[in-house]
Amino acid sequence: MVLVPEVCQEVEASGVPVLAAGGIVTGRQMAAAMAMGAAGAWTGSMWLTTTEAETSPIIKEKYLQASSRQTVRSKARTGKYSRQLRSAWTDAWESPEAPEPLPMPLQSSVSEAPLAKVIKLAEGGHAGAKQLATFFVGQGVGLMNSIQSTRDVMREFMQDYIEAVERVSATLDE
Ligand SMILES: Cc1cc2nc3c(=O)[nH]c(=O)nc-3n(C[C@H](O)[C@H](O)[C@H](O)COP(=O)(O)O)c2cc1C
Repeated sequence: MVLVPEVCQEVEASGVPVLAAGGIVTGRQMAAAMAMGAAGAWTGSMWLTTTEAETSPIIKEKYLQASSRQTVRSKARTGKYSRQLRSAWTDAWESPEAPEPLPMPLQSSVSEAPLAKVIKLAEGGHAGAKQLATFFVGQGVGLMNSIQSTRDVMREFMQDYIEAVERVSATLDE
């Protein structure tokens, strides 16, 4: 709401197209971004719960259960801040006794192997590993509530976009 109009205003004269990104999971959100001047939307997280996504079933299930509040910006994975599912892993790295994460790219060599092992154990039913399991995701996770094919996601997204634009257009008739 704040950033997209500011960026659009800044680059207006140059004609550079602006793509809005961050938390966009539905067509209505894209419609809002277009209303603010964006030329389109750039999405990432919403594809992680498609049937085609390589995301572990354990993580997919966690996404379905998570609300928008269950993400955290953490350096624990790559050494730079990235938003991910809050889990026992991210909590442990936030604790006062935890060491500072190493700078990118070194932290990945600390975290990737154990996190891959965690996923493997969680898929085998290990309760502690299920709590530790985490992966990148944005705050739009609260709206990622079912596992669907990419085709169905696209169809619903387009339908939602159309309905949102029609809803807003109808306010002109009132
Ligand atoms: C699993 C995953 C991996 C990503 N990897 C990168 C990356 O390596 N470099 C980068 O600049 N952005 C990366 N992104 C960010 C996306 O390109 C995009 O900007 C972001 O996901 C948009 O926000 P959203 O996830 O809320 O839709 C990644 C996003 C996800 C979900």
